[in-house]
Amino acid sequence: MKFKTVNEIRKSYLDFFESKQHYIHPSFPLVPINDNSLLLINAGMAPLKNYFMGVEKPPKNRMSTCQKCIRTGDIENVGMTARHATFFEMLGNFSFGDYFKNEAIEWAWEYVTKVLEISPEHLWVTIYEEDDEAFDIWKDKIGVSPERIVRLGKADNFWEIGNGTGPCGPCSEIYIDRGPEFGCDCEDCKPGCDCDRFLEFWNLVFTQFNREQDGSLTPLPKPNIDTGMGLERVACMLQGVDSIFEIDTMQDIIHRIEGILGVKYNEDEKNDISIRIICDHIRAVTFLIADGVIPSNEGRGYVLRRLLRRGARHGKLLGYKNPFLFELMSTVVDINRDSYPDLEEKKDYIRKVIKIEEEKFEETIYQGLELLKTDMEEMKEKGLTVMEPHKAFRLYDTFGFPFDLTKEILAEEGYTVEEEGFFKEMQEQRERARSARKESDNEGWKSDEINLDIKETEFDGYASYNVEAQILSILKDDTVVKTASNGDEVIFILNRTPFYAESGGQVGDEGELKGNHGKVLVTQTKKGHNGLIMHFGKVVEGSVSEGESLVAEINVSRREETMRNHSATHLLHKALRTVLGNHVTQAGSLVTPDRLRFDFTHFEAMTPQELEQTEKMVNKAIYSYLDVTCREMSIDEAKQKGAMALFGEKYGDWVRVVSMGDFSIELCGGTHVQNTSEIGIFKIVSESGVASGVRRIEAITGLKVYELLKTKEALIAQVSSQLKTKEENLAERLESQLNEFKEAKREINQLKSKIMKDNMGEILSNKEAVGELQLLTYAFEDMESEDMRNIAESLTDKEADLVAVFAAPKDDKVNFVAMAGKKAVETGAHCGNLLREVAKIAKGGGGGKANMAQAGGKDVSKVQEALAVAKETLLKQL
Ligand code: ALA
Repeated sequence: MKFKTVNEIRKSYLDFFESKQHYIHPSFPLVPINDNSLLLINAGMAPLKNYFMGVEKPPKNRMSTCQKCIRTGDIENVGMTARHATFFEMLGNFSFGDYFKNEAIEWAWEYVTKVLEISPEHLWVTIYEEDDEAFDIWKDKIGVSPERIVRLGKADNFWEIGNGTGPCGPCSEIYIDRGPEFGCDCEDCKPGCDCDRFLEFWNLVFTQFNREQDGSLTPLPKPNIDTGMGLERVACMLQGVDSIFEIDTMQDIIHRIEGILGVKYNEDEKNDISIRIICDHIRAVTFLIADGVIPSNEGRGYVLRRLLRRGARHGKLLGYKNPFLFELMSTVVDINRDSYPDLEEKKDYIRKVIKIEEEKFEETIYQGLELLKTDMEEMKEKGLTVMEPHKAFRLYDTFGFPFDLTKEILAEEGYTVEEEGFFKEMQEQRERARSARKESDNEGWKSDEINLDIKETEFDGYASYNVEAQILSILKDDTVVKTASNGDEVIFILNRTPFYAESGGQVGDEGELKGNHGKVLVTQTKKGHNGLIMHFGKVVEGSVSEGESLVAEINVSRREETMRNHSATHLLHKALRTVLGNHVTQAGSLVTPDRLRFDFTHFEAMTPQELEQTEKMVNKAIYSYLDVTCREMSIDEAKQKGAMALFGEKYGDWVRVVSMGDFSIELCGGTHVQNTSEIGIFKIVSESGVASGVRRIEAITGLKVYELLKTKEALIAQVSSQLKTKEENLAERLESQLNEFKEAKREINQLKSKIMKDNMGEILSNKEAVGELQLLTYAFEDMESEDMRNIAESLTDKEADLVAVFAAPKDDKVNFVAMAGKKAVETGAHCGNLLREVAKIAKGGGGGKANMAQAGGKDVSKVQEALAVAKETLLKQL
């Protein structure tokens, strides 16, 4: 056979379909684009759904890809079997209403028998039981003998995407006969049998239907073809190996695992499972991070975290103590570099993300495992086999154990966990978080409940700040009214307006509505349903009525400040991507007249250098006098121009694109300055983390920067005057003052210990004999606990038969310390027990070990009385 390695097979497949006039598209990212129905791409056709459904036009009606896929449904089996993997590549050729069954079957056969040179003797096929058309093609056109065409039912030969909705249809599968030695002994063994003899490797789906939300099947506008062949599986066949972990690329990873962890594959079955798990997971992890996923506790981030932590734990099971996945990842990059060049570009980033997550896990894994061990011991003692949900939740919440990991570790020892309870705890925590969020956003408007028959408001506010408009409707306390008079708080709907309604992170406008008989102050503008713009306002003079004409005028300086900040946000977005890398995407933003807030994906705190670079780049763009243009265009054109869009956001066919020179181009509906120079100046005021993998920058522009400068100037002036020096000498002056302060403190301490030594005679005179031992009780005045402990320690070090019990009242509290010398402990003295009795008298508690204990008390008046208890307690101990 000519093509053997994974890379050769991939290329031969794409070349073959290119020769059949297919458009070869590189693999789409693992993260679905504009498709909320799917967490991760799980089949070659998944990113092409819209083409199948006729919603979008494909670049060509024939396409072929080698698509990265992830399926985690069978994750428990990964490592246990020869064929399960979470990450794999799917070779596929697709027809969007172009060719159908005839060509799909003919070309598949040609590729398998002519290009891969697999002899027809070894091949079998299956078809959907009712598909006579497919039967005839296989039999008459291809010449497969009828005994080798097996009819199977829906479960086997009707393909659906997995989550229920989407394009689907009957299919036909090609099998290889691996020989009777792999089979069961039944006479009628053939594809469909449960044994290992017949291996399915290529699925040809005749995509004719769309499965709707309600479960029904709708015929698609035109029948399509979707095929899928597992690259790893084909490599197994051509390389004559039984397990996907034996093919060339997987072996490269396994060798590296052997090298790093110092283990050998194929020597111990239990170790082999761990090695296979690591081998599979590191592939998934590397590709997921390259496609922009960051470890977190939800959605894709959770899939990644779970794979990463599971891999890390299996390293530990193999006896390796340190993080290692971050090194192993480079082998995945090496073997895939040619087909996935972006891996090489993002290599450092991927390594960093893995390392941070491994270290994070490292910090808590031992603690978590200990706890889990204790829990399991406890369960064993009590004869329980099911763990209580709150215990699993604590491991998840505090120690970062993915739930499945906990489940897996428990299962290894024969335990389970109450799953429902766990998810309930999780749900409760989410609700707590949600209600915390809601409280800050309770301005919901109830227009949906009122049936307003008004079409959308015309927005004139991009170009003008005041327009003449007509009142279409007035709402008061959720009902429509004809007139609003002085003092009324109402919502106005106009036919046209310059007021920008809050959206895209930009706050809504404020301003005035001036009628012939009254005036309204607008305090907020929001979007209602059906494109209506809602003006929330209060009538401050006279009255206004439905149908009346008036002048709507926004607060111009407030809007201009907001626009400066909004335009600066675009510059910041671009600068961050330039400084930090293309993994940066917008995760949220807030644009107000006072400041801007920008949340973005990034895995660690920005360094001062990165912040400075970013800030400088934005200011340079401001001083480059870039013209800002806003233009409407088709989404395709916008994409072609490289406009930055929000991930996961649904855009219509027609979009508004805001460009600032050649520096930034972004989809946006907000309002902007006309030239970047109007922003004036840009200053970052903070950078912080808001969630795992999400950072936040807050910044100000224009006059706000000037105000900040004035505040800082005043502060410096104040400090200079307090330190009695000129501004330029401040640092020097402060340093000398701090040195003086340190020196003074040192002197005070020296004096204190001198006084103490002088008083030692008096203190020691309180010593008394208790049995064979000496007891010293004393109450200090103005003494730090630490100093008191030091004195007790040095005394009991010197005198082995001494027990020292000290008190130091401070404000309305008292601290106690007790220490016992070596001999005293041997004779039976126990400071912990002793001090507990003492502290009790002063309304306190505490405890400790035999040789040393500390306690606190709340009743300072009882200090002497408390100390007096020491003697009798000690006596009892001896
Ligand atoms: N979409 C089909 C599969 O995944 C080809 O098997």
